[in-house]
Amino acid sequence: MPTLFEPLTLGAVTTPNRVLMAPLTRMRATVPGDVPNELMQEYYVQRASAGLVISEGTQISPEGKGYMDTPGIYSDAQVTGWRTITDAVHAAGGRIAAQLWHVGRVSHESFHGGAPPVSASAAPYRNRTTVRGEDGRPTRVACPTPRALGLEEIPRLLEDYRRATVNAREAGFDLVEIHGAHGYLLHQFLAADSNRREDAYGGSLENRARLMLEVTDAVASAWSPDRVGIRISPIGSFNGTEDPEGAESGLYVARELAGRGLAFLHLSEPDWAGGPQLDDAFRRDLRGAYRGPIVGAGNYDVDKAQRLLDAGMIDAAAFGRAFIANPDLPRRLEGDLGLNASDPETFYGGGEAGYTDYPAYA
Ligand code: PHB
Repeated sequence: MPTLFEPLTLGAVTTPNRVLMAPLTRMRATVPGDVPNELMQEYYVQRASAGLVISEGTQISPEGKGYMDTPGIYSDAQVTGWRTITDAVHAAGGRIAAQLWHVGRVSHESFHGGAPPVSASAAPYRNRTTVRGEDGRPTRVACPTPRALGLEEIPRLLEDYRRATVNAREAGFDLVEIHGAHGYLLHQFLAADSNRREDAYGGSLENRARLMLEVTDAVASAWSPDRVGIRISPIGSFNGTEDPEGAESGLYVARELAGRGLAFLHLSEPDWAGGPQLDDAFRRDLRGAYRGPIVGAGNYDVDKAQRLLDAGMIDAAAFGRAFIANPDLPRRLEGDLGLNASDPETFYGGGEAGYTDYPAYA
């Protein structure tokens, strides 16, 4: 069995190790315009030794935005900003994927000119998101009740994903990752409690999974299946979305995705968000359902990652908080050099502090 420090092929990309950088919201894009900037470039370049850097969630359209100061990938200025970052990551020897994000109902009317965010259904729900407070700092606010996307809006939504994919390629990314996890739009369609539709996108599991699969096909056709990964979190409660039949939903989606020749399937496990530890039975079932590369994530440490790699249940692990605090994480894990602790106070928004000032091992 390979170690975490051996290469892996993820579709069109070969990674030198299996220690990936998980997608991480940091809310430091330049506003107005949600444009990636030089500070973000420095942050990503510092982490270029990851097998693969997966970018923070990057909204595919203004409609897909739900938090202050997150970057987008729909405007020319955003593509130009990302190009500077991907060039610099490549020059530093790295590889980087763009995470394509539509938050759906995890949003606030202040991002949408006073209009409610969109979702599968107009069901009231309880959750919070982050807007700029009067002091300029991130402030948590309640998410409003969304409006249901109209059936006639779905082609336009698919076109937004396609356009974002073309932009990601143009911006020099190696891959894209579709965000199908954590209670955002595609998960809102998949989960029965947030999806009360009575059309072809609601009701049966097959119907609820339709949007996620159509988005996958739209994104793959805009580039190539071997340039596309997808992240799911079918089990657990995230952002006010949970699926009582999450295991079944996840395995259904995995089986449907299995024949599509994608770069990877990325499973985010519930315990990073305070949920229970996932059991190996589900991991084994997922492996049975999906033969391609599986990336595991969610509160992983090196021992858990290596155990699951040894058992053949994952092919790589993505690390979030450890990568925030340790820009040279693969080297630190391989050499058992110890880790810097991360400071949650500086995760979201702000400048260099808690972002680009974590030291590499001396
Ligand atoms: C967050 O900003 O808290 C966040 C964003 C994306 C995720 C999960 C959490 O997938």
